[in-house]
Amino acid sequence: MESPRDRVKGCQVAQVTVIGAGNVGSTLGQRLAEKNLADVILLDVQPGRPQGLALDLMEARGVEHHDRRILGTADYGDTQDSDVIVVTAGLPRKPGMSRDDLLQINGQIVADVTQRAVEVSPDAIVMVVTNPLDVMTYVAWKASGLPPERVIGMAGVLDAARFETFIALELQISTRDVHAMVLGGHGDLMVPLPRYTTVSGIPITELLSAEVIARLVARTRNGGAEIVGLMKAGSAYYAPASSACSMVESILYNRRRIVPAAVYLQGEYGLSNLFLGVPACLGRLGVTKVLELKLSEVEQQALHTSAQAVQQSIDVIQPLLAAL
Ligand code: NAI
Ligand code: 2OP
Repeated sequence: MESPRDRVKGCQVAQVTVIGAGNVGSTLGQRLAEKNLADVILLDVQPGRPQGLALDLMEARGVEHHDRRILGTADYGDTQDSDVIVVTAGLPRKPGMSRDDLLQINGQIVADVTQRAVEVSPDAIVMVVTNPLDVMTYVAWKASGLPPERVIGMAGVLDAARFETFIALELQISTRDVHAMVLGGHGDLMVPLPRYTTVSGIPITELLSAEVIARLVARTRNGGAEIVGLMKAGSAYYAPASSACSMVESILYNRRRIVPAAVYLQGEYGLSNLFLGVPACLGRLGVTKVLELKLSEVEQQALHTSAQAVQQSIDVIQPLLAAL
């Protein structure tokens, strides 16, 4: 089998491995290839699925006019020397399964796939998408043995994108001019920050009433659940894939974008030894900077409440973490 990596001297193309070729993983592969950002390896345990999807995506090249190679595989050997590893592998929560059951199951999967992928791509940056996001990013970090700046969780970009969309729809303006900031864990306790959310530099607190902002904040917090409620089976994947793609781009091309991402905290915001959503600078070396915003007492309290929920989940899977 032809190597997916373009080994033409002096013209090496970036390579991204996406583990889990489900809805998010395959859509992310499509985005990365069609934007010509990187060659893509889709890895999944479902026999034939990643191979079939990869071939399908490749066959779109003539129409989409991209030159990226996409390989589907179940073999970690094929993922060797990837620049970025994106972990989307996991199981959805099923009826009768508790949150803690899901933590254990996805924790095992994320630990296993991260270890195997990093073994053959020791210089990669790892990005986690699997839920529960902040805890799974912690698991991936422990399993990877990498320095914390090379492990990042994707959620804040998605949550901010949802908030931006709702604001633009409310104001009937272009979403391009809206920049939102959302801190905290990826869940009901996330902390959208209206004071740091702007329309062409104008805080939304000057453009929208407190009641309207509260409504949009609530919709943002419920963003994932709203889509699950509509779809019944499965969860959002177009906006999640776009969000992950923009983060991968910032890393691969050293764009140094400042985005909300789940990064390892070492005293910032008065929090330590957990991954949580805060504004971070993403470049070729991973997280190059963590920005500390000045928070009001209410905002700080909300962030700490969100952090406590993440910490409780980390505590639940201590036995798994201890074994890594
Ligand atoms: P999906 O069920 O469509 O895909 C998951 C894929 O993982 C499946 O194809 C499955 O075969 C694969 N998989 C399971 N175990 C594996 C293993 N050991 N090795 C390789 N592949 C394995 O789910 P979807 O919609 O793609 O979501 C993926 C994950 O991302 C879920 O945990 C979901 O909750 C999460 N998610 C997180 C978001 C965020 O903002 N962080 C946003 C959207 C989804
Ligand atoms: C979302 O926010 C399910 O975490 C996923 O859509």
